[in-house]
Amino acid sequence: MFKTRLMDCAARVQLHLDSVLAPKDGQAGDLPVVQAMRYASHGGKRLRAFLVLESARLHGIPTEQAIWPAAAIEAMHAYSLVHDDLPCMDDDDMRRGQPTVHVKWDYPTAVLAGDALQSLAFELTSHPQVSAKAEVRAELALELARAAGAQGMVLGQALDMAAESSDTPLTLEQITELQDGKTGALFGWSAMAGARMAKADTTPWADYAKGLGLAFQIWDDVLDIEGDAEVVGKAVGKDSDAGKATFVSLLGIDTAKARANELIDQSCAALDPFGAEADILKDVARFVITRNK
Ligand code: IPE
Ligand code: IPE
Ligand code: MG
Ligand code: MG
Ligand code: MG
Repeated sequence: MFKTRLMDCAARVQLHLDSVLAPKDGQAGDLPVVQAMRYASHGGKRLRAFLVLESARLHGIPTEQAIWPAAAIEAMHAYSLVHDDLPCMDDDDMRRGQPTVHVKWDYPTAVLAGDALQSLAFELTSHPQVSAKAEVRAELALELARAAGAQGMVLGQALDMAAESSDTPLTLEQITELQDGKTGALFGWSAMAGARMAKADTTPWADYAKGLGLAFQIWDDVLDIEGDAEVVGKAVGKDSDAGKATFVSLLGIDTAKARANELIDQSCAALDPFGAEADILKDVARFVITRNK
């Protein structure tokens, strides 16, 4: 049930992104930057989009509306990956089982495709079809800016890069702040999207996403050690050489896994008020810490 719904979500999001990125009449050719945007927005698990669609469903928002912010967050996430993989960041050659954008094209194309994917995310979030209420669209866009920017994902990425060359290991509190930013912020926006669209209370969703984002990143760090590059679709075994600050580097793999389990239990408990309707979101939370990619 959950796997089928996730696959259905992935297919819908792909169609939507393909349609907004299709070559337009009158466009000066199909520029490499647009080809690279299309390439970078293919594949992936679509977990962030899934959170948008499922939280929207729980709040009675039609999928025809929710698909816009769902595609938006995947465009934002795709931008973050294109830039994260650049040689000046994590220097990765493989992403989602394919060469990274700067390897397939070149650095300027990767920088610009990332920039334009970020702009696209705001365009999709603000599209009239998201909601008839302009204030709903404005709030989604405002909160997306906060989640993606220097108080959110970019903050986390900056702390991540700084930690690589730090002389002293980060504390648990500092690693939590780093990961809340680099991963948690986009998960938080995604999980709160449905409530925002329905003008409902976002508190349970913020609580749900808090543990989910951290556990998700712990598992990403576990996969860097225990994963198979062919399956994960990206290089593994890089974090410790690069001096990355992770829960795994600080706590060891077993304690980090136990922590991820506790976080997911807390995450699921936050959705108890929604009863069985939220079961699928509890399923996705458990998937996050059992996945092999
Ligand atoms: C990878 O995210 C980047 C992190 C925040 C760890 P995902 O594992 O969700 O990547 P895709 O979208 O499925 O490729
Ligand atoms: C990246 O974290 C998070 C963002 C892109 C914001 P990682 O650097 O651990 O992600 P992967 O392992 O390259 O997917
Ligand atoms: Mg990184
Ligand atoms: Mg990386
Ligand atoms: Mg990683």
